[in-house]
Order: sequence, then C-alpha cells, then structure tokens
Amino acid sequence: MCGIIAYTGQRQCKDLLYQGLRKLEYRGYDSAGLSVLSDGRIELVRAVGNLDSLEQELRGDGCTGASLGLGHTRWATHGRPSTENAHPHLDCDGKISIVLNGIIENYQELRASLKAEGHEFTSETDAEVVAHLVEKFYEGDLVAAVRKSISEISGHFAFCVIHKDHGGLIVGARKECPLLIGVGKGENFIASAIPAFLSETRDVMVLGDDEMVVVTPDGVQILDLELQPLDREVTRVSWDAEAAEKGGYETFMRKEIYEQPGALADTLAGRLPDEGGVVLEELTISAEDLAKIDKVYLVACGTSYHAGLVGRYVLENWARVAVELDVASEFRYRDPVLSPSTLVVGISQSGETADTLVAMRQARSLGAKVLAITNIMGSQATRDADGVLYTRAGLEIGVAATKTHVAQIAAIQLLALYLAQIRNTLPADEIDAIARELRSVPELMRGYLDNEATAHEIAKRYYQQPFFLYLGRGVGLPVCLEGALKLKEISYIPTEAYAAGEMKHGPIALLDQGSPVVVVANDGHVYEKVVSNIEEVRARDASVIAVATEGNEGIRTLSEDVMYIPRTSEMLSPLLSVVPLQLLAYYIAQLKGCNVDQPRNLAKTVTVE
Ligand code: F6R
Repeated sequence: MCGIIAYTGQRQCKDLLYQGLRKLEYRGYDSAGLSVLSDGRIELVRAVGNLDSLEQELRGDGCTGASLGLGHTRWATHGRPSTENAHPHLDCDGKISIVLNGIIENYQELRASLKAEGHEFTSETDAEVVAHLVEKFYEGDLVAAVRKSISEISGHFAFCVIHKDHGGLIVGARKECPLLIGVGKGENFIASAIPAFLSETRDVMVLGDDEMVVVTPDGVQILDLELQPLDREVTRVSWDAEAAEKGGYETFMRKEIYEQPGALADTLAGRLPDEGGVVLEELTISAEDLAKIDKVYLVACGTSYHAGLVGRYVLENWARVAVELDVASEFRYRDPVLSPSTLVVGISQSGETADTLVAMRQARSLGAKVLAITNIMGSQATRDADGVLYTRAGLEIGVAATKTHVAQIAAIQLLALYLAQIRNTLPADEIDAIARELRSVPELMRGYLDNEATAHEIAKRYYQQPFFLYLGRGVGLPVCLEGALKLKEISYIPTEAYAAGEMKHGPIALLDQGSPVVVVANDGHVYEKVVSNIEEVRARDASVIAVATEGNEGIRTLSEDVMYIPRTSEMLSPLLSVVPLQLLAYYIAQLKGCNVDQPRNLAKTVTVE
C-alpha cells in the first residue's frame, strides 16, 4: 500500500528520498511525490504512474540543496490516481507539507468544516485534511499543532509533517499504521517500512500506537499524546534487503496473512460510521436503482468466487434478495436470465481476470446493472461496471490470495447491509448491531493471529498425508472450499471440499484410517448437524481437525485437533474461520519445501479466458 520516507540531515535529500521510494515499490502504488524544504520554501514534485514518471519530473535543478524532505508512494483509496491526489499535500499557503498512510475516517466532516473556515482544497483525498488541520492549529509550535490535529481525526494512520519555518524538523504520528525511525549520525529517517532506509542505517526505533515523534538531524524524541517523552530502544536490524521487504516475514504470503486485520479495517473504514447506518460513497449506482433490484447475481473465479459464496448467505439473510452465483467462466456459456432489476456483482481482486470481465460485459449488454468489487483502482473491472466497491487490502504479492479474500468478504457484507438498509429488510438497530460487531472483527483477528500456535503443530503431524477432505455447512462451506483451494495450490496435495451433508453420498468412500478431515464446526444453527457428520468421519477412523468457536470444549472429545477462533455471530464467522485454514495450508506447504509465494503453474492475474 502507500509508502512514506522522510529525511532530515546534512545531505541533499532528493536522491535519498527517491531511492527510499524505490525500496517501497514492492508495496504497490499508482502515483508518487516528494516535497523538500529548499531556500526557505517548500518545493513539491508529484507524478502519476511509476517512479520513472517521478524521476522525469525531478530531472533538472528542482529540489537540489535541500536537506529536509518527505517522499510518498500512493495506492489510491480516496480519489483516483492523479497528480493532485498524489502526496505530499500542502496547506493553503504552501508552508506545511504532509504525507500520510492509512485512512482518515471522518475526513468529510473535517473537510466541510475546514472549507467553511476558508481552507481551499486541491485534492479529493482524505489525507489533505491533515495539512489544513495542522495549518489551522499552528501558532508557532509545529508539535503542538500536530497534537491538536490528532485529536480531531479518527481512523488509522501514520503521517509526517514539515513546516517551512522549522528547518531540520519532522513531526510524525502513528495510530495503527507502521512508522519507524532510522537513526543515523547527524541525520535521521522516518519511514513506513525498514527497506526505505536500510541502505543508510540499520539502527531502528519503532513508533507505537498513539505516539508522536519529533525528529531533527541530531535527535529523536518520542512522545505520548500528552506530549510526555517516552524511552525507546534502538534495535539493530540484521535483515538483508529482501527480508526487509517482507517486513521480517519469511514469505509474502505469511506477511499478507498477518496483514489481514489491517486490510479488513481499511475496507470497513468510514463505511460504518459511529452514528449508525452504512455509507458506500463510491457506489455510483443510486439507492433508488438498488431498491428496485430483485436479484443479485455474483460472478467471480477462484478465491473471489468463494468470497461470493459467503456473499450469497449474507445477501439472502440480511437483504432478503434472491441470489444466484456462478464461476465467471461458466456464466458466459449459460443463457442467464437477467433484467434491469438484476444486480450482477463481478468480484475480482485484480479487476483484470478475463473470465470475470467477459461475464460482466455480457451482463451489462443484457441490461443488468453491474457492480465491480475489486482491490485495484482504475482496473478494467472498474471501467466495465456501473458502480464500484473497493476492497482496500493493499497490494498482494503472494500468488495465493489471502488478505484480499477477507477484504472481499467484508465488502460483500457491507453491500448486503447497505441493501438491507435500502430495502428495509433489517431494522436500523439490527444493522447497527451488526456494524458494531463487524468493526470489532479486525481486533479479534489481530488477537487471534498474535496468539496463534496450533496450526503449525497440526501441520507438522499431517504434512505427509496424500489427501485432505474439507467439510462444512452453511457459511462454513465456502470457508472449506477456500481452505482446500489454499492447500492444493501451495502444497500440491489433492483436496476435496464438500458440503458436510453430501459426504455420505460419495466422498465418504475416500476415508480410511487416519485420513485428515478438516471440519469447519463453528457455533451456529448448523452446528449439531456438523457434529453428526464428525461422528460419521470418526466411525471410519479418519482424523478430525476442527475449526471451532472459542469456548467449545466439547468438540475436543470429538476431534484429534482443534483450531479455535474468536466468537462472532454466524454470518461474520467466515472472516475469522478462514484464517486458521490459510495458516494450516501455509505451514504444510512450508514443511513440504514448496515455494508458497509462487506456486507452480499459477499466475496472480489470469488475463486469458
Ligand atoms: C487463489 C487465487 C485465484 C484468484 C482467481 C481470481 O489463491 O488467488 O483463485 O482468486 O484467479 O482472481 P481475481 O480475484 O483477480 O479475479
């Protein structure tokens, strides 16, 4: 996702910042920029596209002589990729410059009130409000102005600020998005990831949540939000450049599994406001048109299709709308019955999958309204649709989708809640209760991942098995399908995923002594039925690996192994229950020595039909 680099010291920083941005390229971006303090004024250079475009802009005399500056790579979330929306942003007078990662959830209210006070905005971004807030509160003390600004904003973010009258000073702040300080000699760096400054220094300080940092060439001061100084150790990192890109994780897939709480929080941000209801601003299909919808048709491929399968349950349950679903490669060869009151939802992480694009175009030509759910701003799917709902998972590098999958599930849940609101199929207080619970899931997931210990142990016991069966019912079924796909694609172990009730109609013949059977058995209205299926498995001496709800001690007596996930309501449970299955697949593939980031024969984006 977005990347930050900032420098203060004695050297000319244009090149240092630019090289820092190069090291952040792996995070994905669609525009980039620098701002530097040069001859007592802030110079700004920004460009759309890759860093070569920025380099073109930087050629010549611009920004030379400067030894204080900010750099940013932007992955568009609020506002399309454009020069105006690229960071850094300035205040009205061009005295203050900021770069920001994350999302300011209340930016619209802030923007409206700042505008009413006379601030002029030049971009569509949420980030620009921070430049104007700091301007509003600035009375000669940049640290105090940043502190006051933080108390106005809600969301999750990391940002850095410079002011033309404070040569050598960078003020940074962080809430839930990473910010690190690279400590040098007579110079210091701030960045969102270590690779940005790794070639210059290996001495690192980590900024914590709700902390600020005041950095000059000769000092680093970390403060809490009462502006009280905090002690912080300097750690020397020994990673090589590649390990640093992976943030210390051994693979991108593992890093992306651990990034899921953030991907989920970003996807929900600003869409479930505290005051209640669901707000889907960028959904350009009007509420009136959506109210007339009598059928939702979900089309997608692979992992995205599995997100669609979860979507069917929530759309039926919350929005009480008829739902059909197909893999995109089949949809086009059927004769689908569509009308202007059908909403076709194409789900595609990349927004470039050929089969999904063809299906969406076909649906549009048959008169249906088409919505794209995608992670990539400006992708083809966004151009082939009447409306777009973005997942905000950040760039996914591992070929096997993980964080984009949970973000897709969340996006469909948002859509289902929004339709429920428009169609009055759920009372407002029930929508708000679901919204509150949904907002709590990123934290539950973070807690789960921080303490997760069983998946690796289970993987060690089963990784040499030749076959895995996955069983689930209700919303547990798509989770099984996804878990089975993850295992087969990264470990090459054959898997089958089945509706648990269907097992006795065929797949039960596959079971033998010790065959591993993964069962999603979360608490919910189908739990007792799933237990009956577990008994059927045990009667064949197969081994049950259950995913169950925390607190369900009884299931231990029915299973060889249990992976517990935090308790949520049933419709939200797929967000969490898929995570242990991702980890199980991951560890098994690792133990088998497979390349999990680039499994054989697979491509991240499939642009052929
Ligand atoms: C599996 C995986 C694929 C994709 C599928 C669709 O881990 O990533 O199954 O889900 O190729 O891709 P998108 O979502 O880009 O349309």
